Amino acid sequence: MSKNNILQNIPKHNHIEPAVDIDRDEFIKLIKSRRSVRVFTDEAVKHSDLKECIELALLAPTSSNLQCWEFYWAKSKENKEKLKSYCLSQSAATTSQELIVCVARIDTWKKNKNNIINYLKKNDSTPRSAIKYYEKIVPFVYSQGPFGIFGFLKKILISVFGVFKVLPREPHSISDMRVWAHKTTALACQNLMLALRAYGYDSCPMEGMDSSRIKKMLKLPKKAEICMVISVGKRAKNGVYGERFRLKSDEFIKVI
Ligand SMILES: Cc1cc2nc3c(=O)[nH]c(=O)nc-3n(C[C@H](O)[C@H](O)[C@H](O)COP(=O)(O)O)c2cc1C
Repeated sequence: MSKNNILQNIPKHNHIEPAVDIDRDEFIKLIKSRRSVRVFTDEAVKHSDLKECIELALLAPTSSNLQCWEFYWAKSKENKEKLKSYCLSQSAATTSQELIVCVARIDTWKKNKNNIINYLKKNDSTPRSAIKYYEKIVPFVYSQGPFGIFGFLKKILISVFGVFKVLPREPHSISDMRVWAHKTTALACQNLMLALRAYGYDSCPMEGMDSSRIKKMLKLPKKAEICMVISVGKRAKNGVYGERFRLKSDEFIKVI
């Protein structure tokens, strides 16, 4: 095993974080009680609650901890109304009290990487390998170069060396980067929806929306993408349209 392999070597560190006990039944209740709610009541959402739920969303796992997400909380009446119409005036949007636009960013990793490096360097006990990971490996892995040329070269190199060696394959194109950013952002979206349920609220994730108008409204650059819009409120009596339905789990759970 290589002495410098950050993934394989276990670094010396003093951090001890025991796994806390979780009430399993409460967790199952939380998961099962999250439904996509399409009708909300007129009851307002406490802003401090929503702020805490969005903070909890940011605790989702994030690829290389590069936090390639953004959450836009529409607070003004004007922005809320605009967003409701951009969400195709779906009842899940029009009856909601709050709307959060969840954005996947393929273009913020360099800035975030630099901030992470600055943070790591302030701590004397940071393993050298961690700094090296962000200084050397991250730029190599996530840079795709102008018109994706660097990514294309990486793809060729990886395909050749990958014949002989186990290697990480993606991301080596702009579309890989989009998948990368949406994966991480979607995990945070799920955190947000579960946190809302735990705080007594409900939500509906929506991809039925005019992403181009929303991007324009938020003055987002071309490379930013709307992952989903999440509407928030208190569940109305008629808010859930039917029993939860899933296809048989053995269609999806494969033991290998
Ligand atoms: C990415 C994504 C986009 C969705 N978009 C919409 C939407 O635009 N409108 C809507 O009413 N529901 C939307 N849903 C909700 C799904 O229809 C819902 O999750 C599914 O029917 C299962 O129901 P459940 O969430 O209550 O378990 C979306 C869900 C996901 C994950």
